[in-house]
Amino acid sequence: MALFDSQRQSDEKILGSDVATRALSVTAVENDFVERVYEKLAGVYDFTFGPTLHPGRLEAIRKMDIRTGTRILEVGVGTGINLALYPRTCSVTGIDLSGGMLEKAQERIDRKGLVNCSVLDMDAAAMSFPDDSFDIVYAPYLISVVPDPVQVAREMRRVCRPGGRIVILNHFKSTNPLLSRIETAISPLTVHIGFKSDLCLPGFLAQAELTPVSVEKVNVPRMWSLVTCVKR
Ligand SMILES: C[S@@+](CC[C@H](N)C(=O)[O-])C[C@H]1O[C@@H](n2cnc3c(N)ncnc32)[C@H](O)[C@@H]1O
Repeated sequence: MALFDSQRQSDEKILGSDVATRALSVTAVENDFVERVYEKLAGVYDFTFGPTLHPGRLEAIRKMDIRTGTRILEVGVGTGINLALYPRTCSVTGIDLSGGMLEKAQERIDRKGLVNCSVLDMDAAAMSFPDDSFDIVYAPYLISVVPDPVQVAREMRRVCRPGGRIVILNHFKSTNPLLSRIETAISPLTVHIGFKSDLCLPGFLAQAELTPVSVEKVNVPRMWSLVTCVKR
């Protein structure tokens, strides 16, 4: 009996993160799927997701008030669409798991001479950086893309130095009941264009044990959130 109990407990432990992640969205994805989607999007990303999401990118970087020498990690750097927006006096490391997106980012770095920026192929859920490596860890439009947003948030916190900032720019499920029902219904479809439309912000923050110092609405319509947290 004890053998079965302990087997069940260990199964529940293994499944735990998956079950919790499913409570945040009706849609589950795997890294392979996400990678395939972004390999296809790499050539058109800047046109399709560029202009509409840009006010949020500008606001996030304005709000960071970046000082000389600040070490920034951009998680899910994509085509490097943000890279030229950072002051040249800070250092920026970008990570992504799509080779196609990273190629575009590297082309942009070379073309624009962004000597303060570098990009690496790395999974946001299992980063190879030591603890406390960065002053600001920023995930623009990533957290609803990844299979396990809570694990990514844990990694973001781990590599951020104490007192540093964890900044998340993302679309989360609306608090309006009608919109929220629509976002939940279309989420299995939106993953094919790169994101889950029904990620629950309060559930995500609770599971990731993140307490924001500010949450503001950005973009037009104001359906995206800029969430800033400080690592205590
Ligand atoms: C919506 S794009 C965001 C790109 C850019 N940050 C922006 O502001 O538009 C999401 C990016 O996250 C990357 N990505 C998805 N899952 C990832 C993971 N587990 N680790 C690292 N990058 C990931 C995708 O390949 C894609 O380039």
